[in-house]
Amino acid sequence: MNQLPKNAKLYLITVIITAVFFSFFLANNYPMPNTYVLLLFVFLSFLTESLTVRFTNEASVSISFAVFFSSIIILGPLGATISAALGIMFRYVKTSDGASRHVLNTPLYKILFNGSMAALSVGISAVIYYSFDVQIADPHFYNNFLAIFCVILTCLVVNTTLVTGLFAFLQKNPFLSLFISNFIWTVPNLLIISILGIFLSILYLNYGVSIMLLFFAPLIFARHSFQLYIDIKNYYMQTMTALANAVEANDKYTKGHSERVSFLAEEFGKHTNMKSADISVLKKAGLLHDIGKIGISDSILNKPAKLTNEEMLAIKDHPELGVKILKDVNFLKGVHEAILHHHERYDGAGYPHGLVGGQIPLNAAVLSVVDAYDAMTSDRAYRDALTTQEAINTLKQEAGRQFHPLIAEEFAEMITTTKNEEIVNLKQANNVSPPLV
Ligand SMILES: [Fe+2]
Repeated sequence: MNQLPKNAKLYLITVIITAVFFSFFLANNYPMPNTYVLLLFVFLSFLTESLTVRFTNEASVSISFAVFFSSIIILGPLGATISAALGIMFRYVKTSDGASRHVLNTPLYKILFNGSMAALSVGISAVIYYSFDVQIADPHFYNNFLAIFCVILTCLVVNTTLVTGLFAFLQKNPFLSLFISNFIWTVPNLLIISILGIFLSILYLNYGVSIMLLFFAPLIFARHSFQLYIDIKNYYMQTMTALANAVEANDKYTKGHSERVSFLAEEFGKHTNMKSADISVLKKAGLLHDIGKIGISDSILNKPAKLTNEEMLAIKDHPELGVKILKDVNFLKGVHEAILHHHERYDGAGYPHGLVGGQIPLNAAVLSVVDAYDAMTSDRAYRDALTTQEAINTLKQEAGRQFHPLIAEEFAEMITTTKNEEIVNLKQANNVSPPLV
């Protein structure tokens, strides 16, 4: 915990203390449910939390909210809070890089914070639900739509607020824009899963525990298939990253270029509030934009002298070659046009098609700016790296000529004003004078 910023530490401690006081409040005001049913729900929330499908370390999908929702209806506020908090604290998850995380190798403050978030979001939702004069374990609970709606909304708002608060302190990003993007991402997920929660509760209250558990088998199978699909996509992206690195491996000047373009393009998408699907296209296109260079001879790519016309034509083939390499990969369809047109110029003097202004697809226009910025701020065989300010000046000078003017302006603004530590580190690296030898 020592490595966290001071205000993030204070935030974590406040959330944990609030959750402890809130749990005492629940213990004094709501009945303890039957121990066996409580243990069953602790196990179910542990199971569903452990079976979370993770896309990245930040984004994941879990059906645990269905269990939390039914525990609110079946156990009441105290039981629901205990089962949700314990389930999350003792979960066993695999991170996107394949490592296991569990109670024995996770720092205590993280375990307590996760448990507190679950206790507060589930507990507060449950208290609001029972303020609507519904009874615990009422088999006709679904007649009270307003109470159900309030459970979903409260859980969503409390959970998103607590998570966003932490990220706002850690990443030093503004709370509101982070809240909106997290909220939008969570709403459809939670709405669908809450229907599952209603269904689970109906099964339990009308047909008993064994019928409800039977329903879990196909659910876990569906989750397994989904996980396989995500794994295959991740493996494919890893292969593509390896391929992109292979293109750059023989050239010390372009090492890491594609990964930096991918990162900066993704950050630009977030900065300009693009849809998450468009950001994902930018991220992949950034990584793969120069993949076509794999088909071009190293002697041309690494030539320190001026290229002949013939060599230049060979280089100009790389966007089309890249699309040819990736053409059979269905989930990269949206990425193709960004790769194909990332060397078009706003004034029409680019390649391969000489598109002008608005004819250039937006994602390709973004990539063109980011690609040029990273190239300018990296050393090349024929020149030293420019400083961040020099590169920004060039982007502004070329706005409306080489670059889409609005994109160049926005990107320059992002680089200048960002508090994102990774971008700041990249900027600092750019501003260090290159070694003399
Ligand atoms: Fe390129």
